[in-house]
Amino acid sequence: MFIRYKKNHEKIAMGLLSFMPDLKDIKKLQTTMKDYESDESLQLLLWKEEEIIGVAGLNLSQEGIIKIQHISVNPSFRAQGVGKAMVKAIIEQYPDKEVQPTDDVAEFFGKCDLPGNETPA
Ligand SMILES: CC(C)(COP(=O)(O)OP(=O)(O)OC[C@H]1O[C@@H](n2cnc3c(N)ncnc32)[C@H](O)[C@@H]1OP(=O)(O)O)[C@@H](O)C(=O)NCCC(=O)NCCS
Repeated sequence: MFIRYKKNHEKIAMGLLSFMPDLKDIKKLQTTMKDYESDESLQLLLWKEEEIIGVAGLNLSQEGIIKIQHISVNPSFRAQGVGKAMVKAIIEQYPDKEVQPTDDVAEFFGKCDLPGNETPA
């Protein structure tokens, strides 16, 4: 399940976000964390099972649209459906909005077995 980011999650959130290809640079990662902490149109969600193992960063600045701009899972827990479960949970959390990926997230989003993502027969 998702929990909302709080300041005491900063280390784990940064560790998870650092797996995003666009956040390999530490300066960029720090700026991005500050943005999530200060910009009300950005939201960081942490995926918690026994422990926190994933993060999703959302941009809510466009009316009616939820942009997934970051998504990352702890490498020890990958390929077990966690990433897909996170995308599904975001869609369920915002039933009235259109959930879209940014270019950085599009490749994985395309694999998420979502309505409209089916390959034509
Ligand atoms: C992308 C990521 C979040 C997927 O999490 P996960 O829990 O391993 O994903 P799931 O187990 O739910 O889904 C696995 C599927 O995602 C695919 N996948 C994994 N990483 C991917 C990537 N970077 N781009 C596209 N597809 C990816 C797998 O090939 C697999 O496909 P299949 O269902 O056709 O076999 C995880 O690999 C990660 O944290 N990567 C580093 C951060 C990153 O690059 N994020 C942006 C990805 S575009």
